[in-house]
Amino acid sequence: MNHFDYRDGALHCEDVPLARIAEEVGTPVYVYSTATFRRHAQVFRDGLKALGARVHLAYAIKANPNVAVLRVLADEGYGADVVSGGEMARALAAGIPARDIVFSGVGKTRAELARGVDEGIGQFNLELEEEGAVLAQIAHARGKRARATLRVNPDVDAGTHAKISTGRAENKFGVPIDQAPAMFDRLAPLDGLDLTGVACHIGSQLADLSRLEEAYRRVGRLVEELRGAGHTITRVDLGGGLGVPYKQGDALPSPAEYGAMVARVTEGWDVDLMFEPGRVIAGNAGVLLTEVVWVKPGVTNPYVIVDAAMNDLARPALYDAWHDFAAVRPNGERITANIAGPVCESGDTFAMGREIDRVASGDLAVFRTAGAYGATMASTYNSRDLVPEVLVDGDRYAVVADRIAAETILAAERVPEWLTPAKAAG
Ligand code: LLP
Repeated sequence: MNHFDYRDGALHCEDVPLARIAEEVGTPVYVYSTATFRRHAQVFRDGLKALGARVHLAYAIKANPNVAVLRVLADEGYGADVVSGGEMARALAAGIPARDIVFSGVGKTRAELARGVDEGIGQFNLELEEEGAVLAQIAHARGKRARATLRVNPDVDAGTHAKISTGRAENKFGVPIDQAPAMFDRLAPLDGLDLTGVACHIGSQLADLSRLEEAYRRVGRLVEELRGAGHTITRVDLGGGLGVPYKQGDALPSPAEYGAMVARVTEGWDVDLMFEPGRVIAGNAGVLLTEVVWVKPGVTNPYVIVDAAMNDLARPALYDAWHDFAAVRPNGERITANIAGPVCESGDTFAMGREIDRVASGDLAVFRTAGAYGATMASTYNSRDLVPEVLVDGDRYAVVADRIAAETILAAERVPEWLTPAKAAG
């Protein structure tokens, strides 16, 4: 459920007509609904109610790290899952307490680990044994102890797109689950480290709860084994990954179904449970608003050329992802068309042979479900502007990320003095 609806034939975000945002801010532009963010945050939390009070929610900010969005989610009581110094800085800037931040990521640098220790980050998810030893040294040298979990790779196929699957043995993430007990034996005694937990995250846009269940069961057996070996385990991080519907008719498990599965599997674990949801919170809270530039005749179907491109929304080009396309003011007619952006490669295609609202040049349209992994993955490829972001709240809105003009990017580039001045043409 989201707050993008038609009123009097025109698509609104909450009480704001999208046409007004297009007029005042320009296109392409990401538009987010505060009410949808809040609702998703609450629905996810409610889904875990059966688990009781030992639940901690760390929003995976990579999905949508806009600082205004983080403020909304902090207000809903969410901490943050971060994967870089930059994300850590954002979470702190949004007012999320360091103790509610989880530091994940397979390539945390020594400098990032040190910064995390200095800030008092609440949980480090270790990706390899050496990282644990280095973190212990860094914390010990400062007279501190870093709380950590060991991320294990349970070797479960999450059944999602290969590029966003993380829990198979050949993926770069986590340590092989069968090696975890020996690593615990070596790392747990180190001064500077409180290694008291296990983490796992098997992939994103997951549609099949049985895969997650299998991964969690393996983690449960590991917890038992570790306790049997005398280790204290107080916390398990179950990661993120719950998928969202992108297409009408997509059947995805609800947070309540997910919560029921987790309650069943984790019964008797006696641990604090950490969750790192990203897409399920942000996905349906945003659209990418765009204007049709041309409708160009094609061999089979016409090409609807919009002013948004793969640099603004990379998911279709990267993962063949589907984003529903809808006119802001549909006229009731439908056509079959291809939808593409202006970037100079055929990969810059959002859809082929899709039935959509009939649109003409100058019309506004949206790509739906673009609130997660949208603006944050944007680039300036083809020297295009960096796409701006707008947050709506009831009948008001604010530009929460400026459009960064191609000229501003150009101004940050330098021609070294040893290159001779350009010759005048002709
Ligand atoms: N925790 C960890 C350790 C992660 O790596 C991720 C996502 C999450 C939590 C959040 O997962 P979510 O709940 O959002 O599924 N760019 C891709 C998705 C990449 C996901 C990376 N990791 C896409 O557009 O589909």
